[in-house]
Amino acid sequence: MDSPANVKTFEIKNTKLFINNNYIDSISGRKFETINPATAKPLSQIAEGDKADIDVAVAAARKAFDDGSKWSKTSGSRRGKYLWKISELISKNADELAYLETIDCGKPISETKNIEVPVTADIFAYYAGAASKIEGETIPVNGNYFNYTLREPLGVIGLIIPWNFPLITAARKIAAALSAGNTVVVKPSEFTPLSTLKLAELVAESGLPEGVFNVVTGYGKTAGAALVDHPDIDGIAFTGSTSTGQEIMRNASLTMKRLSLELGGKSPNIIFADTDIDTTVKMAAAAIFYNKGEVCTAGSRLLIEETIHDEFIEKLAARAAKMVPGDPLNPETKLGPLTSDIQLNKVMQYVASGKSEGAKLLAGGNRIGNDGYFFQPTVFSQVEQKMKIATEEIFGPVLSTMRFKDFDDAVLKANQTYYGLAAGIWTRDIKKAHTLAKKIKAGTVWINTYNMYDAAMPYGGYKMSGFTRECGMEAIYEFYTQVKSVWVDLN
Ligand code: NAI
Ligand code: MG
Repeated sequence: MDSPANVKTFEIKNTKLFINNNYIDSISGRKFETINPATAKPLSQIAEGDKADIDVAVAAARKAFDDGSKWSKTSGSRRGKYLWKISELISKNADELAYLETIDCGKPISETKNIEVPVTADIFAYYAGAASKIEGETIPVNGNYFNYTLREPLGVIGLIIPWNFPLITAARKIAAALSAGNTVVVKPSEFTPLSTLKLAELVAESGLPEGVFNVVTGYGKTAGAALVDHPDIDGIAFTGSTSTGQEIMRNASLTMKRLSLELGGKSPNIIFADTDIDTTVKMAAAAIFYNKGEVCTAGSRLLIEETIHDEFIEKLAARAAKMVPGDPLNPETKLGPLTSDIQLNKVMQYVASGKSEGAKLLAGGNRIGNDGYFFQPTVFSQVEQKMKIATEEIFGPVLSTMRFKDFDDAVLKANQTYYGLAAGIWTRDIKKAHTLAKKIKAGTVWINTYNMYDAAMPYGGYKMSGFTRECGMEAIYEFYTQVKSVWVDLN
């Protein structure tokens, strides 16, 4: 697919590991190929790091952390200056970052430009300010003692990144970790390493001391697992599938690592009859089809009050049928291809399973063409709780719709999931909205909106969607720092 004339193209460079502020080949010399999902053609050759390279990167990060003089023991405002500089460099390099993210993940260029890159810059700006506001407490205790707590950085942290929002999910972890004085080794997804490698270039340009930020590209089973096993890594922040999260948890237990796990979801989006139907149809479509449904918080279970059910799904199916994916480099495109052939096959299997289990296909259901991983926005009705498409995370543009009778039935159905990442509520009745928000077992609840995020707002899961929160000061206090209690005898 040729890129349209009005999108500037950039050379793909620096496809190597980034350790001690230098790009280097992997020790084995091996490389792996990445694919452009819009064309299904090879895109880049990336250095394939494994355990040996993780050892080198962790040693660099450990040295930078333990030395302390240039990073972990410096003032928050000093660290904040580097983060602010990185934020500015992200904005300055917006076009190139957006382009790389688009060709790597298949996201529309309008989204990478207007959402991914500005959000990433904002995350670094937020944590630039946060760095100087990480505080301990003085605590009154029994007896004549002066007691206080110190907030210390956790240490050397391994960051394992998924392929659906490579830049944003990396930024949330990197910025929070650095803000608190940690040093990091980042392992981007083998499907989408380009934006993290570009970010490394900007980190070097910011003058960040060497060893503080390192990137090892490679596969999960080798490079990722080596990071989890490494005795000199103090914590792992991971976003990805629940099954990989479970494996990481088992392996990390051997070295007792602290974990932040942002895992899968099957989020209910709950539509009450008193909502404005036309507006809510649009928003419900966006809640599932945004980023082709490759969103951990995707509103993938649409629960509709029975009195408006038929009208609602008819309008929704009509809207889905009009949403046609196209070349992600075209500035007009709103929907791109899925990120990999593996993901496309997985989505096709779920659509087949929905049909064979008796759900009714209202819209979509098919792959488009053979050159890229394009798939139609798909809507099922008559979905029942026992079906796979009602309970499993599909991670694609496939919506399961169900009906509910009343408020209590909505609560029951909303919570009928092992996951607990997010939920949406659509009603004009504020009492109903807030009462329901409290009853839903999920880390984020959106009322009359969906898929909203902010660097300041805690984000994470209940139940099998994982634990600890990213973003905000919550991430700093829950994960990226540890507490030391100090007792002073005044007797
Ligand atoms: P994954 O969870 O296996 O991969 C995510 C990251 O973990 C990648 O960087 C990968 O290299 C790394 N990794 C894999 N195995 C590892 C291990 N044993 N130790 C350490 N690191 C490891 O996700 P994958 O295979 O790319 O996608 C599979 C499914 O996961 C998707 O179909 C989707 O359903 C779900 N997923 C959910 C995400 C979310 O944000 N909730 C994000 C990405 C995928
Ligand atoms: Mg790719």
